[in-house]
Amino acid sequence: MTFLREAALAAGLVFAAGVANAAGLPLTIEPVNTDALPDVGEEWLTENPFRADKAGDEVWQKAIEVGESGFVQNCARCHGLGAVSGGLAPDLRYLEAAEYGDEWFIERFRQGYTQDNITRMPAFGDVLGQKAAWAIRTYIETQPEDGALGEVTPRLKEIRDALSAGSGDGPAVKTELMAIAAEIKTSSGAPVADSAPLRAAHMLSDDPASWKKAAEALTIGMSAAH
Ligand code: HEC
Repeated sequence: MTFLREAALAAGLVFAAGVANAAGLPLTIEPVNTDALPDVGEEWLTENPFRADKAGDEVWQKAIEVGESGFVQNCARCHGLGAVSGGLAPDLRYLEAAEYGDEWFIERFRQGYTQDNITRMPAFGDVLGQKAAWAIRTYIETQPEDGALGEVTPRLKEIRDALSAGSGDGPAVKTELMAIAAEIKTSSGAPVADSAPLRAAHMLSDDPASWKKAAEALTIGMSAAH
């Protein structure tokens, strides 16, 4: 313990009261760079402004990207990678992707959660602000439901292998990946999932270098799925 503490102090980590919660989970807050996202004003909203139907596809995708990084840095240690809960904290993928779920989300994000004077979740609101909040929200609500890639995995592997081998017809593969992605569901009810086939489809162009990248995105997505 002493050694760890000294090592942490040497590494410049600050030990203040309440830096870890009762389960020993760190309550630190890491900055999230939200410059790539449009401003949404000062006053806290009650509904996610970055959904594709409000903000358009480009902002929506950016929000997922920024939100993923914010989630990994600040939330995954308690809520699980990909928002798949390991049992320490609730599984966030089930919060409804509508105003009702948003209000609950933003309330928790801003206030955190304290029980019997013990902070179980830090209050992120003042530190990270609402652009980060809604980006993280967008990432969470677009995560695929459990087992979403199950049925399509054999076909995705074939596509992946063809892309890594540099064969296959770019535009046709893109169309097929988009069609597969359109069938992948979320647990939040959000209409489009942030899935490996969708990420791969967005990467594909005429440039063969993009085929390798898309193949990698498929591999990563299939190994993350369970
Ligand atoms: C140190 C652990 C910890 C961290 C870090 C953490 N949470 Fe939590 N979170 C919890 C716990 C514990 C609860 C359950 C509180 C309760 O019982 O209502 C919770 C509850 C929530 C809820 C309410 C879920 C529900 O179904 O009622 C939301 C939303 C939430 N967290 C979002 C986040 C987000 C977003 C982040 C990152 C920005 C985050 N949390 C970081 C521990 C954490």
